[in-house]
Amino acid sequence: MLNPRKAAVVGCGFVGASIAFTLMQRGLFSELVLIDANRAKAEGEAMDLSHGLPYTAPMDIYAGDYDDAADCGLIIVTAGANQKPGETRLDLIGKNVAILKSIIPEIRRRNFEGILLIVSNPVDVLTYAAWHMSGLPANRVFGSGTVLDTARLKQLLGEHLRVDSRNVHAVIIGEHGDSELAVWSGANVSGIDLNDFCELRGHYDHRASMQRIYENVRDSAYQIIERKGATYYGIAMAVGRIAESIVLDQESVLPVSVVLEGQYGLDGLCLSIPSVVGKNGLESILEIPLSPEEDEALHASARQLKEVIAQLEL
Ligand SMILES: NC(=O)c1ccc[n+]([C@@H]2O[C@H](COP(=O)([O-])OP(=O)(O)OC[C@H]3O[C@@H](n4cnc5c(N)ncnc54)[C@H](O)[C@@H]3O)[C@@H](O)[C@H]2O)c1
Repeated sequence: MLNPRKAAVVGCGFVGASIAFTLMQRGLFSELVLIDANRAKAEGEAMDLSHGLPYTAPMDIYAGDYDDAADCGLIIVTAGANQKPGETRLDLIGKNVAILKSIIPEIRRRNFEGILLIVSNPVDVLTYAAWHMSGLPANRVFGSGTVLDTARLKQLLGEHLRVDSRNVHAVIIGEHGDSELAVWSGANVSGIDLNDFCELRGHYDHRASMQRIYENVRDSAYQIIERKGATYYGIAMAVGRIAESIVLDQESVLPVSVVLEGQYGLDGLCLSIPSVVGKNGLESILEIPLSPEEDEALHASARQLKEVIAQLEL
C-alpha cells in the first residue's frame, strides 16, 4: 500500500545526495530509499546521512532497489549525466534518455501509485519521456522545471532591490534551459508592481536591469559549472520545496514542468507552467495572463522542445 511518508531518490550523485540531505533535514518523510547504479555510492550516502539523524528526527535512510521504491509516495529521478563546461542541457538527451529507459520500466512494472518527479536534464524532455514510458496519469508525473530558475530570479531581484527575496513574486516559465522566459508583466514585490518598487528603491533603468537579471538567471548553471563543475544545492532546496507542497498538501503554486494537453494552445510536450501542487500531484495547471511578447517567447520555447521530442524514440 502506498506510503505518502516514504520517498526514493534514484541517482545519488551530487544532485541526488544533496536532495536526500535536504529531505532528511526537512523531516517530511519517515523512510528514504537511495537507489544508484553504483550500489556502493548509495550505501555510502545512506550511512553518511544517517549519522546526521541524532540532530534532526528519526527516519530510515537506506540503499535499496526498485522493490523498495514500489510503495513510495514520491520517487525523485536524478540519475544521469550532468552538463560539462560548455554543454547545454539539450546536449545530454541521448545519454539521459537511455538511462531513463532503464529506470521507468522498473517503476512501471511495480504498479507504482505515487508521484514521479523528474530532475535529470534536459528536464522537460525527460519528464515527457518518463510520462510516456510510465503509463501514469499526467497529474502524477512532472519535472522540477523552473522552480530552481524562479528561485534564482527571486534571489537576484531581492539582491538588486535590497529586499527579502521571499517578498518577490516573479516567475520563470517555459524550458528549464536557454529558451526560458521571465514573466515580467505580472512581477511584483508584496503586491507592488515591480517597476514601481524599483523606483521606490532608486532604480529607473528598468529594461536594462531586467535584461541583465534575466540573462544571469538563464546562464546561472553555466556560471556555476564553470567554477565548481556541477550545481546541486539550489536544486536540492527547490526539490525540498516541491516535496513539502506534496506531502503537506499545501497547494502551493510552483512552476513545475508539466505535460501540456491544450493549455496555452500547446500539447505533446512538457514545459514549466505555474501549477497548483498538492497531495495528488498536479491539482491544476494555471493559464496565467502573459503579455504578447511573453506569449510569443513561450511558444518559441515550445517549438524548440517539440522539435527535440519529435526525434525521441520512446
Ligand atoms: N533540473 C534541474 O534543475 C537540475 C539541476 C542540477 C542538475 N540537474 C541534473 O541532474 C542530473 C544529475 O546530476 P549530478 O550532478 O548529480 O550528476 P552525477 O554524475 O554526480 O550523478 C549521477 C548519478 O546517477 C547515477 N546513475 C547513472 N545511471 C543510473 C541508472 N541507470 N540508475 C541509477 N542511477 C544511475 C550515477 O551512478 C551517479 O551516481 C544531471 O542530468 C543534471 O543535469 C538538474
